[in-house]
Amino acid sequence: MQEKLQALQTEALEHVEQAKTLADLQNVRVSYLGKKGPITEVLRGMGKLSPEERPVIGELANKVREAITEALDTKKQNLEEAALNEQLKSETIDVTLPGRPVQVGGSHLLTDIVTEIEDLFIGMGFEVREGPEVETDYYNFEALNLPKDHPARDMQDSFYITEELLLRTHTSPVQARTMGEYKGNKPVKMICPGKVYRRDTDDATHSHQFTQVEGLYVDKDVRMSDLKGVLNQFAKQFFGEEREIRLRPSFFPFTEPSVEMDISCKVCHGEGCSVCKKTGWIEILGGGMVHPDVLEMAGYDPEVYSGFAFGMGPERIAMLKYGVDDIRHFYTNDVRFLKQYHQV
Ligand code: DAH
Repeated sequence: MQEKLQALQTEALEHVEQAKTLADLQNVRVSYLGKKGPITEVLRGMGKLSPEERPVIGELANKVREAITEALDTKKQNLEEAALNEQLKSETIDVTLPGRPVQVGGSHLLTDIVTEIEDLFIGMGFEVREGPEVETDYYNFEALNLPKDHPARDMQDSFYITEELLLRTHTSPVQARTMGEYKGNKPVKMICPGKVYRRDTDDATHSHQFTQVEGLYVDKDVRMSDLKGVLNQFAKQFFGEEREIRLRPSFFPFTEPSVEMDISCKVCHGEGCSVCKKTGWIEILGGGMVHPDVLEMAGYDPEVYSGFAFGMGPERIAMLKYGVDDIRHFYTNDVRFLKQYHQV
């Protein structure tokens, strides 16, 4: 019996030694120390032994069990350590590898242009306002002196949503909205940047959606010379001190008199070249003195108050400033185009 136990121990320790995984080890544990294992069997058969043999065999069996348990535990620890080391090795990070470049986003060229325009006008005391892109026929047209059958409505082909609602065709309705809010008894000095929509076919110079910045100054005794002064200041700050402006007579239903403003051509300084189509001048915006009917509809007494208004297109202005040749570049968002104008 003693020999059998010794042999069991040797055999079990060999198996422990050979175990390669924790699962192997568990199998060894069950087969030698489990309820149906040989050691348990020996201990169970103790009753059949003589009283002299019993303590000797019992002690030996316990020793053998302890030896196997110890070997199992040590091996388990070794296997676990090895597994952990293996894992750590596979997860090591090589901190000397160069990192992947992170792409940094930036504001869109149009956003930058509008911000620049805003800053210039804020510097001249204008506040910045917003208005809805889904506008009523009243504010988009009627309040601006364009009654329902007015032929000038055709100048701005519109996206109607219902008979009375449309996508605004310009930012001018914000003039009427702001004056309405100021209730006819306070000066108004505001600009309003925003998106506008027209039923145009997209090409290099047209887009069904584009941006405008509206300007309005209403007070007692506002004159055409104020308009010219403000626009001159704007043009010189935005395009450069050397640029000249000129106002040409024009027509808008909401201003009387109406003007269009040109700036001298950057390339030929007024001499005439291909950029300015030999005229020496480039048109950049429309404006004029607010029509008395528009003032009156908004609640301002045209005998007491007068004002000027203007509207410009930031895309056109950006195209002129940076020599962009197609308006669609602003909307297709090709990063190769956008990156050129963004200094991170
Ligand atoms: N609303 C005009 C347009 O979309 C631009 C404009 C012209 C605005 C003259 C004005 C203005 O305020 O006085 O073409």
